Amino acid sequence: MAKNKILLIGGGQIGGNLALLAAQKELGDIMIYDIPQAEGMVKGKALDILQLRPHDGYDVDVSGTSNPEDMKDSDVVIITAGMPRKPGMNREDLLSINIKIISDVANNVKKYAPNAFVIVVSNPLDAIVYSFYKVSGFSKNKVVGMAGALDTCRFKTFLAEETGFSVQDIQCMVLGGHGDTMVPMLRFATAGGIPITELVSEQRLNEIIERTKYAGGELVKLFGNGSAYYAPAASAIEMAESYLRDKKRLIPCAALCEGEFGIDGYFIGVPTVIGANGIEKIIEFEMNNEEKGQLEQTLNAVKETVTETGL
Ligand code: NAI
Ligand code: 2OP
Repeated sequence: MAKNKILLIGGGQIGGNLALLAAQKELGDIMIYDIPQAEGMVKGKALDILQLRPHDGYDVDVSGTSNPEDMKDSDVVIITAGMPRKPGMNREDLLSINIKIISDVANNVKKYAPNAFVIVVSNPLDAIVYSFYKVSGFSKNKVVGMAGALDTCRFKTFLAEETGFSVQDIQCMVLGGHGDTMVPMLRFATAGGIPITELVSEQRLNEIIERTKYAGGELVKLFGNGSAYYAPAASAIEMAESYLRDKKRLIPCAALCEGEFGIDGYFIGVPTVIGANGIEKIIEFEMNNEEKGQLEQTLNAVKETVTETGL
């Protein structure tokens, strides 16, 4: 059986970790694509990962390229091309640089990999995934943004730390845009099925929610020159794996809403089912008034950044 082909557009910090995780999970053969100035770097990362395979024996190919023709026949495309956020810079500052990059990338993916499932990671996420969708003309089930998967992992991590329980037993989700207005859904957070509100004080939960909203910025400050990459890579791989293995995982992702939750025409974090047909479903539920207000606020932030794309 032919192996899947996973194309990583952008071979920087997240791209390198995506390649490693995709190889270790044997998701398919991996192609890392970057600009010509970075060709040596991605060829080097590919060769390094190839030489790591004998330890665990995973039989996939890994290569690096700057030739768009090598994108041909990719099954999954994960896009991290762009510039990471630097201290003092907000996600929207990155927009003008990254919009040009995503337009070039979208035209190449449309030409060489028209049937791929595309996971966008580049920031500002909600605007960049929208731009990819507009420029490529792909169907809405084949384009998705990675943000909720990561923001949810951060929320889970902080709740696990607070309770002292295994991260495995924490369930929760973060919806909305990938910015400071994101919505950690406290009502659905549980530890081993027990509502988290029964286990943790209201004051600590409010502090954890605030930390979750600003978790990306906390890492930017710590790194001093760049942003998070291990957890973002793992989050995108979780989504790719659900598609390639038709797992039907229920993951919060930035998907195109057309009426769901009263939202129309925007990519925003909502609960999605990812299977062999891509984004197979958006799962709706009744929000209370407080949640509706928070969703409206985050939608307004998304609309603002999308308007700035001019698309
Ligand atoms: P990085 O700077 O290490 O890597 C970006 C790579 O993109 C570089 O190797 C660069 O040469 C390449 N690139 C630039 N233009 C390109 C083009 N036209 N075609 C192909 N490659 C191109 O950045 P890092 O840390 O990997 O982050 C990547 C992106 O992901 C950033 O925009 C960052 O803000 C975003 N991010 C998003 C998260 C999310 O939750 N959605 C979480 C963390 C980061
Ligand atoms: C993050 O959330 C900066 O979007 C990036 O880590």
